[in-house]
Order: sequence, then C-alpha cells, then structure tokens
Amino acid sequence: MNFAGIFAYLNYKVPRTRKTIFEILVKGLQRLEHRGYDSAGIAVDEDNGKEHKNGGCICLFRNKGKVKALADELYKQKLLDFDKEFEIHFGIAHTRWATHGVPNEVNSHPQRSDKNSEFVVVHNGIITNYKDLRKFLESKEYEFESETDTEVIPKLTKYVYDNRESEDVRFSTLVERVVQQLEGAFALVFKSLHFPGEAVATRRGSPLLIGVHSKCKLSTDQIPILYRTYKNNKNGGTSKAHQIETESLQRLHPTEEKSVEFYFASDASAIIEHTNRALFLEDDDIAAVANGCLSIHRIERSVGDLASRAIHTLQMELHQIMKGNFSAFMQKEIFEQPESVVNTLRGRVNFETSAVMLGGLKDHLKEIKRCRRLLLIGCGTSYHAAVATRQVLEELTELPVMVELASDFLDRSTPVFRDDVCFLISQSGETADTFMALRYCKGRGAFTIGITNTVGSSISRETDCGIHINAGPEIGVASTKAYTSQFVSLIMFGLMMSQDRISLQQRRKEIIAGLQTLPNLIKEVLSLDEKIQLLARELFQHKSLLIMGRGYHYATCLEGALKIKEITYMHSEGILAGELKHGPLALIDKRMPVIMVVMRDPCYTKCQNAVQQVAARQGRPIILCTKNDEESRKFAYKTIEIPHSVDCLQSILSVIPLQLLSFHLAVLRGYDVDFPRNLAKSVTVE
Ligand code: M6R
Repeated sequence: MNFAGIFAYLNYKVPRTRKTIFEILVKGLQRLEHRGYDSAGIAVDEDNGKEHKNGGCICLFRNKGKVKALADELYKQKLLDFDKEFEIHFGIAHTRWATHGVPNEVNSHPQRSDKNSEFVVVHNGIITNYKDLRKFLESKEYEFESETDTEVIPKLTKYVYDNRESEDVRFSTLVERVVQQLEGAFALVFKSLHFPGEAVATRRGSPLLIGVHSKCKLSTDQIPILYRTYKNNKNGGTSKAHQIETESLQRLHPTEEKSVEFYFASDASAIIEHTNRALFLEDDDIAAVANGCLSIHRIERSVGDLASRAIHTLQMELHQIMKGNFSAFMQKEIFEQPESVVNTLRGRVNFETSAVMLGGLKDHLKEIKRCRRLLLIGCGTSYHAAVATRQVLEELTELPVMVELASDFLDRSTPVFRDDVCFLISQSGETADTFMALRYCKGRGAFTIGITNTVGSSISRETDCGIHINAGPEIGVASTKAYTSQFVSLIMFGLMMSQDRISLQQRRKEIIAGLQTLPNLIKEVLSLDEKIQLLARELFQHKSLLIMGRGYHYATCLEGALKIKEITYMHSEGILAGELKHGPLALIDKRMPVIMVVMRDPCYTKCQNAVQQVAARQGRPIILCTKNDEESRKFAYKTIEIPHSVDCLQSILSVIPLQLLSFHLAVLRGYDVDFPRNLAKSVTVE
C-alpha cells in the first residue's frame, strides 16, 4: 500500500530565506499528514543553487517519526544558516509509510544517488522491478544504502547521467530515460546538483499536481504537450532526444516580471494556501521547470490523450482543510454533514418541480437508459454507499443492480458486457482497486460513471462521465461526510432515471421531499452527541461490538462496524439480522454489547423478532430506533432515538450515531482519531 505524501517548492526570482523555504516545506508535509506515514524527509540546497557546479551540495534531513519532530530537530541543531536568502531554489519533501524496509532515516525519502546527493528523489508508489534494476546497478558498482525500492531511481538517474552521450543533456531527458525502465506505480519529483533551480516531476498510477503562483499574468492556461521525437542512431536504436522547433512556445511562464513559484504535491490540500491554480499531471507526463518555465512532454501520444494540460482553479478553501474548533478532522467532518449534503444537492434537485438534473450525466442519459444492468463498484465505505442504495436504485431504475467490492470483482474476472453501466465510487478517486476495476469495465466496452469527491482524480478523468459529490475535502482517514454525499448522489441518479416513469412519480415526490428535510434531520441527530458520548463511556473497555440490522440498514451496520474497527481497534461486526439464527446468535450473552437498528420500515417486524431473540439469550440490545418507538423501548437496554425520514433515506440518519460513537470510543481509548494505525486516506496500490 502507498500512504506517502509528496510536497516540493520551487521559487524562481522570488527571494526566500532558507527559514521560509523550510517553513513552506514543513507546512506542506503537515497538510499531508492525514495520509499516514512513519518517517519524513526534506532536501534543500546547501548554498545558492548557482554555486552547485562549483562544489555546493544538497542537504538531506530525514527522520523516523513525525514531521514536527523533523522540523524541531532541524531548528535545534542549527546546521544551516537559516537567514541565507535564495533567489532561486528548489526544495523537495516527503512523508513515507514503510513498505520496503523499516521506518528509519536511511529508508526515508528523499532517496539519493550517492554520498554527494547528485540526484535526489521523492517517490509515492511501488517499483515492482526494483530488484532487477538494483542487480544491474550493483553490477555497475553503484552502492546501495537503503532497503527501499525507491533507491534504484536516483541511482539509475546518475547512471544515465554518468553515461550521457553529450554534455548538454537536459534534466528532463534523463528522467524520461529512467522512467522508461520503471515498472509499477509512481509519482516522482527529482532534484539534482547538476541542474540547480530546476525540477522534474512525473507520474504513473499515483496522483501528482503542480500549483503555480505568479504576481503577473502567465503565458498560457493550457500547456500544450510536447511530444519528443527520437532520431535513430547508426545502430538503429534510439539516442539523443530532439526537441521539436516550437518547444519554446509551449511553456508556462510569467509574461512580465519573471518571478514565479511552483508547488508540486500529491494532494491539493498541500498547496491550497499558496495558490488555487493547478494542473494535474497525467500518467507518463514529464513536467520540467527550468529558468522559471514549466513545460510538459510525453514520448508517445496515448489514445484519447488531450493535446494540453489545463490550469484549473481549485475550489478548495483553506478553512476547509483546517480543524477549526474541533479536536479532529473526523469530528469536524461528521458535523459538517448538514452542509455537505446540501452541497451535494445544490443545483441538481428542483424541489418545486421535482426535476433532478445531474450535469455530468445529462448528455449521456439516452445511452445510460439503454443499459441492461447497473454495477456499483467500490472499496470500504464507498462500497457501503453502494450497498445502502442498491434497493432504492432497483426500485427507481427497474434494473438489476449488482454491488461489488472492487478487489473481489477483479479477482473473479466478473463478466461485464457492453450494455452494462458501471459506477466507480471513490472519495479520493485514486483507489487502485477501484481504478483497476474501471479499466477492466472500459476494456469490456461498458459505459462508466465516476462518483468521486476529487476533481482531477484518476477515476474522475478516466470515466465516461461522472457525478462530483461536492462534499468538500475529507481529511479524516475514516470516511464520514463522503459516505452520506455518495449516498445522496446515487439517490439523485435513481431520481433522474425515473423522471419519466408515471408509476413512480408519487415515490419520487416522497423521496425528494425527504431530501429537502434531510439537512435539518441530520442536525437533530447530531444533537444526540452528548448522549452518545455517555454510551461510549460504557462501551469503550469492551473488546467487541456487534451491530445488527437488515434491509435499508444493513449498510449502516457494515459502515458502523468499519468505523469502529478502523479507529478504535475494537473488534466489530456488521451483521444482517436475517442471518442471526444461522450463526451469530451464538455470540449473544449478557456481556456482549449489541447495537440493533430497528426502524419503522418494511423490515420493522422482522427486526423486532431479532431483538426478542437477542433479549431471550440475556442479550442487552442498545436499540437505534425512530423517535418515541415504545415497542423498541420495551426490549431495549438503552435506545438511541432518531427522527423519522423516508425509508430509503433513513439510513443516512442511522449511520450518524455510529460515526459519533466510533469517534468517542477512539478518543476514550486514547487513539489518534485522524491517524489510525496501519491505514491511510487513499490506497493507491492494489
Ligand atoms: O477513496 P475511496 O473512497 O476509494 O476509499 C475507499 C476506502 O479505502 C475507504 O472508504 C476506507 O474504507 C475508509 N477509510 C473507511 O472509513
């Protein structure tokens, strides 16, 4: 798995002290901390970049542990002159989650080519052929110092540099040669002693974006892609890269004063406080900054590739990625749900006319309506959003709906047909299994729809069309507001599909009215927070917690149990109440805490039966039910009572008490809610 974070900063003719450069790099890394990591590192110039060729060097600072510890150490040791000013400088930084080799200084990034750090690299992802490359480089007497897969990259770059055919080789040409040898998934940023003040970045299967900030107008907001042409050498092989003539026109640079700053990051949240102008690199793009100009080139044009990369204006605001008055991002995001749900609905549902229009889908509606089956594919919480909405989508679309965990879907090589519509659901839009499932579905000719929360993400770019859930940045590793917004997005899809079905109009109206009142009902559920905290006090020392329900609320049980496992490290299981007699009943006794979801819907009577079976085995069910449900109160050890909504929306409300409960349990057990062990926000390798 890859949980790492990349941040790099290049100032060109913007004088910055070393202290400021450090602060920018450290803050950039801190904005990525939620992704999970166990070591951090930074590389900066020792002297003014220009002096490098005369013997200056690149300084590496790497540490096991937190970014703050690295920064404190740096300032304490006073190894460098922090007041030194750099007119041009490029610094790179990284948070690493150990995959190859334990977390320690030498395995942290930046990884270096040699003791002089001629080339240093930060890397997210995994290089699958690193053993072969390492063997080759060792045979050429390059010495390795770490156990990482990444170290082959700077060493290979040095090898290509040491064996260059001409003195005037470009930095980007070296990188281009190197990435052609790499297999696996990566986002890479390179810095070199030989190319002071220059940066090269590239990606394949792992996200990377470049933020641009300049006080004056930029030469373009669409950077045309430069396709390198190779001239065959005498032996028929490829040799020196020849730039096409127009290259100088195809760069991004400031038009008047020459000052410009570039920010490279694996996640937009790391750059937003500096600029909201950013471009997203595509797989195999090689972006290079030299003399303050950014150019992007590729070796080959791939099918469907656009001829340029647009500079986007990011919609994210700084306050959205700050915790505000909350103690954790997760808590903030739970409490944001009344607004995030409104943002998901905004401009899409007309509550007067009951019309629903999803802008991203409208031009494809005819094609979508011709389909024979819907497949909803995702991982973790995103998969639960599929489970939660399956029933209502079957009802509103009158189509068979399959829900699939992306990894299992791929393992089974599930049959997919040209007349299938496949939804790829992913908060980050970068989850490797979901992304591979997307490619699989496309390869079989199916129509694909992305449901993501991240503009510019791989899934949003590669699907035929999509719904952006507009939940705002979700920083907490435990997904909360993205779930409710994915849920609402899928409901809107069902409503859009059933717009013309006369027989469904009454049902549609009922659901649309339910959507309108939803934000207020969510607020009402959130007001139960104190009560839920008290309940958490009773439960936090238990080892296990069962959550049972059925019908619309089965997904709530799965999602609640996932939240509890993820951040409290307690064992928790979401159980379909209909399966109780087929095994789980054996777990029930007076000590086993059980939460049972019993709502006033078509499954009510069956759920009450399950409650009685639990009570009959001395179980003490905590019943999550609708307000004033006397029947449930009779058998409950305790109740959590929530307002009533339309049956198919009720589970948006029933999941919130479980989000709150998991949060309080984690706090009481003394865990860092936003940094659960062994987990990261986005899982970008299979
Ligand atoms: O970004 P995605 O929605 O594709 O992520 C999928 C899962 O990794 C994610 O939902 C995970 O299960 C959450 N951390 C659960 O809270």
